Amino acid sequence: MTEHIKIERNDGILTLTFARPDKKNALTNAMYGVLADSLVAAETDPAARVIVMRGEGDMFTSGNDVGEFAAIAAGALQGERHVARFVRALAQSTRPLIAAVQGRAVGIGTTMLLHCDLVVLADNAQLSTPFVNLALVPEAGSTLLMPMRIGHARAFEMFALGDTMDAQAALNLGIANRVVPLDRLHAEAAQIAARLAKLPAGSLAATKQLMRNPAALTAQIDAESERFAARLNTAEAREAFMAFAERRQPDFMKVA
Ligand code: COA
Repeated sequence: MTEHIKIERNDGILTLTFARPDKKNALTNAMYGVLADSLVAAETDPAARVIVMRGEGDMFTSGNDVGEFAAIAAGALQGERHVARFVRALAQSTRPLIAAVQGRAVGIGTTMLLHCDLVVLADNAQLSTPFVNLALVPEAGSTLLMPMRIGHARAFEMFALGDTMDAQAALNLGIANRVVPLDRLHAEAAQIAARLAKLPAGSLAATKQLMRNPAALTAQIDAESERFAARLNTAEAREAFMAFAERRQPDFMKVA
């Protein structure tokens, strides 16, 4: 368990809140563990008809905890990597998934949105996937889902250059359903969740299953995970993590 994920159940809605605002909701192994367990348990919980994911503080999440990336690369973090279970659970979930996003959604903060069925963005939302900047590769099935959603050219640019995409662009490209003023974000997500919770859950699950292909996604996730793990142990990645810790820009040109 970790206090960094808050879990609430109300009127058929399961709300999972990233609650580590002092670290911009950077996701740790323990947080992924709770998220994975919650998504898996929801599959057989009749009281979890809809799932909302959100973040406390000024941003949705700054993505994976970069310190943990560095610890894994140094062999200092042993044991099960719950991120893999979380990503699989996202890909296999039959419950409608809603995300309410304010501020930044970095890395997996953006790629998890591709698994969500409804994405509500605050007008200050900024999505980015700076995996290559960290000398890694995109994950969570995003190498399949992002090109499908926004086209290869835009997806490659987003992955390779790591630039941020604002809320309006994300809406225009079909990553999000709507953009609302920041102070309306959680009310809007709650309103949509309440509407979905009243619909026939079996019909929603079947609709979602027809629209998604968990088997293909899981195969892509496995391929990405293999590359990702290998990348963590490269000199390029070590330079990226060191640069983050030292609050400087990485210099990949000096890496042989
Ligand atoms: N992993 C670990 N710690 C993180 C983090 C992350 N992904 N994102 C933020 N933090 C920590 C910072 O180190 C800082 O800790 P400190 O107060 O102990 O120094 C604290 O959270 C606040 O972050 P800060 O960088 O000061 O906030 P900001 O508003 O200026 O910038 C971001 C926010 C998200 C732009 C910036 O923190 C960032 O780029 N984070 C890394 C994002 C990333 O590369 N994620 C992985 C993607 S694969």
